[in-house]
Amino acid sequence: MELNVFQNPQALARAAAYHFVQVHQRAVAQTDGFAVALSGGTTPRLLYELLADPREPFRDQIDWKKSFFLFTDERNVPPDHPDSNYRMAHEALFSRVPKTQIVRIAGEKPAEQAAQEYEDILADLYEADIPDLDLVLLGLGEDGHVASLFPHSPALQEKERLVVAPWVEKLNAYRITMTLPILNAGHSVVFLVTGASKAEIVGKIINADKKPDFQPNPDLYPAQAICPTNGAVSWFVDEAAARLCSINNSSNAGGGSDLLNKNP
Ligand code: 6PG
Repeated sequence: MELNVFQNPQALARAAAYHFVQVHQRAVAQTDGFAVALSGGTTPRLLYELLADPREPFRDQIDWKKSFFLFTDERNVPPDHPDSNYRMAHEALFSRVPKTQIVRIAGEKPAEQAAQEYEDILADLYEADIPDLDLVLLGLGEDGHVASLFPHSPALQEKERLVVAPWVEKLNAYRITMTLPILNAGHSVVFLVTGASKAEIVGKIINADKKPDFQPNPDLYPAQAICPTNGAVSWFVDEAAARLCSINNSSNAGGGSDLLNKNP
């Protein structure tokens, strides 16, 4: 697990933008295309705005025609709804860059229908049973949820379907979400986590990963189920969210070194 700590959300977003471009350019060079699953929530907005900003170096380093923008999850709402993850990405990114391929989850439809249709679209786009996306961007909920995979959700046990529509009791709503098989098939999987409100959950997850007898508990903390099969997971965390991490450079029991990058 690679932990990168940044002074503030702005520095984190900038580092994430450099990472985005690096993964994009490598993918285009190798496969003449690039596919990313965008996280929802509020944290990634700064990143999306940076990628779109003509005053910044990122926009012109991206081949928008060769890029596919998917979503890790969506709320069961229309695309113009304030809660829509698509709407946020459209406002911050898509509306400000050249035409690109956007694969939107149809949140306006009944959730199960939207999930099935998204899965069908993925099957049309990719020959592989489980698409291996170049980049998967994830946020982290204070309860340890990732995408719309919440603690104790049956969706966490899904091994066949790529997209499901779980009822989320605490939200009193359906969500549409990619499942662990496709999230863990990503070549680069990146958590973007900022803010003091996330310090407790980040500390629990990062510190647990260091313990020699570490046993993930994905049912309780779904983020612990993120373990890419042919890729790497990187944590981009600001100092406020990393406050309770017992940060050191010892290698963790989960294999690999827990590389701590303190960044400006
Ligand atoms: C969503 C997300 C969800 C989000 C976390 C963190 O649709 O809400 O996919 O997993 O990433 O809840 O949200 P914030 O970035 O708003 O803290």
